[in-house]
Amino acid sequence: METVLKVENLSKIFPKVVANDNVSFDLKKGEIVAILGENGAGKSTLMNCLYGIYHPTKGDIYIKGEKVKLTKIEDAEALGIGMVHQHFMLVEDLTVAENIILGRKTGITPYLDLKKVEKAVKELSDRYNFGLNPKSKIKDLSVGTRQRVEILKMLYRNADILILDEATAVLTPQETVELFKTLKHFVDEGKSILMITHKLEEVMELADRVVVLIDGKMAGSVNRVDTNPRQLANMMVGRDVLMDFDIKPVVHDNLILQVKNLTVKNNHGLEKIKNLSFEIKQGEILGVAGVDGNGQAELAEALTGLMKIDKGEIVIGEKVFTHLKPKMIYEQGMSHIPQDRHERGLVLDMTVNENLALEGISHVPFSYNGIIDFKYIKSHGKAMIKDYNIKCYDGSCPTKELSGGNQQKVIVAREIDRKPNIIIAVQPTRGLDIGATEFVRNKLLEEKERGAAVLLISTELEEILMVSNRIAVIHEGEFMGVIDNKNVDILELGLMMTGMRGDKDEK
Ligand SMILES: Nc1ncnc2c1ncn2[C@@H]1O[C@H](COP(=O)(O)OP(=O)(O)OP(=O)(O)O)[C@@H](O)[C@H]1O
Ligand SMILES: [Mg+2]
Repeated sequence: METVLKVENLSKIFPKVVANDNVSFDLKKGEIVAILGENGAGKSTLMNCLYGIYHPTKGDIYIKGEKVKLTKIEDAEALGIGMVHQHFMLVEDLTVAENIILGRKTGITPYLDLKKVEKAVKELSDRYNFGLNPKSKIKDLSVGTRQRVEILKMLYRNADILILDEATAVLTPQETVELFKTLKHFVDEGKSILMITHKLEEVMELADRVVVLIDGKMAGSVNRVDTNPRQLANMMVGRDVLMDFDIKPVVHDNLILQVKNLTVKNNHGLEKIKNLSFEIKQGEILGVAGVDGNGQAELAEALTGLMKIDKGEIVIGEKVFTHLKPKMIYEQGMSHIPQDRHERGLVLDMTVNENLALEGISHVPFSYNGIIDFKYIKSHGKAMIKDYNIKCYDGSCPTKELSGGNQQKVIVAREIDRKPNIIIAVQPTRGLDIGATEFVRNKLLEEKERGAAVLLISTELEEILMVSNRIAVIHEGEFMGVIDNKNVDILELGLMMTGMRGDKDEK
């Protein structure tokens, strides 16, 4: 088969970091190659070099047999390369069609051109069963649909080499199934795909070949048919990753968090949480499973003071709250690992040390009587970076220079390490490599055993099953049932996710 892309001895050196070190691999027509590696291994950097965002410090790139120099994104796109990023790059207030022509030079009047683009977008969308309306505003679309817009943007620009950087990290299992169908369709048409993922089952399902990076270097390349998830994990991490957790039973009776008749409305006045009641005991993990968009985000935001409560109350220990502010949350010992790490969790322009202190900055031990203890912030940062294996040259590194997974580790470290009474964790392992995922799940279990009450909201049922004492299934803002993890029937959970009430309600 024709080689459509070849990388030879590529290195990318940032002022303080060697992100890629002498990497060589190729991609053939109609092939899917998976790029695997731990957080910070250099996957995104390598792909950014192929998309003209970064310029390699050394080495060569060949596209369809020609040696090329990609100085900007347009150079890569002109050669048929398209990339969907780890974080979406769509403008929320613009429509699908507007986002797709954004930054394109046209020459025709914008009005006429937009009509033409809308028609073309519709045709492409129909061809791949994307079901997109070119006139929808991005802000009204679900995450899965936004991703289809990103992919369509690349198809519109005639990409035949598609780069997907953790394309499934934000998708629900159903959306992932749809995406994979599309990707298989692409390669059947002769397009080629480079995909980064941390999910080994996805590699086994989709990839023809796997390239593994360790610390920026090539650790190996294997054919999918010659490998298995265990071997891949070993190649990446150098040990077996078992994901085998021991969920100890709840031994305390006192209720740490009680939610009573909670109703939350969104901006449009729609009830996203409907008269919801539940409680979590000391030393208990309650997992909330469900298809994304069923009120999970609103539940987490109402509990952490980021969204207004319409009716009901939240009882933390003995204290009753009918309205909450983020500051009160901090003072009540509640931690929050938010769904969107860029919007809510981090200040990207600040250093790692500063982000590790963040909400605590005006409190002991980060400051005394209004005076910030910079020495403490530094030593605290140093300890966190070590304990949570955050990859950066040191704590003075701007957080925006960390890899995606390492940014997530900063939030997890900050929120877990302050010994909270309550942890609201939303997709806490999103974007983490398998070793870090195992570490964070173990941390949640340790925190629960220490006595924290944990609310784990995740669209990954597997994650919920691995660590929760009880599992609630949320559907359209209501719990369809709450089941003890010991009595779980997966089929029943699946039905509850579609809106059926469970009969084993043990609430
Ligand atoms: N713009 C930048 N400036 C300085 N260093 C950077 C920059 N971008 C990435 N790095 C560093 O390069 C290394 C590789 O980062 P990269 O984002 O490529 O990792 P990754 O394999 O994609 O990880 P993840 O799985 O967490 O997304 C990291 O040490 C990171 O901190
Ligand atoms: Mg990355």
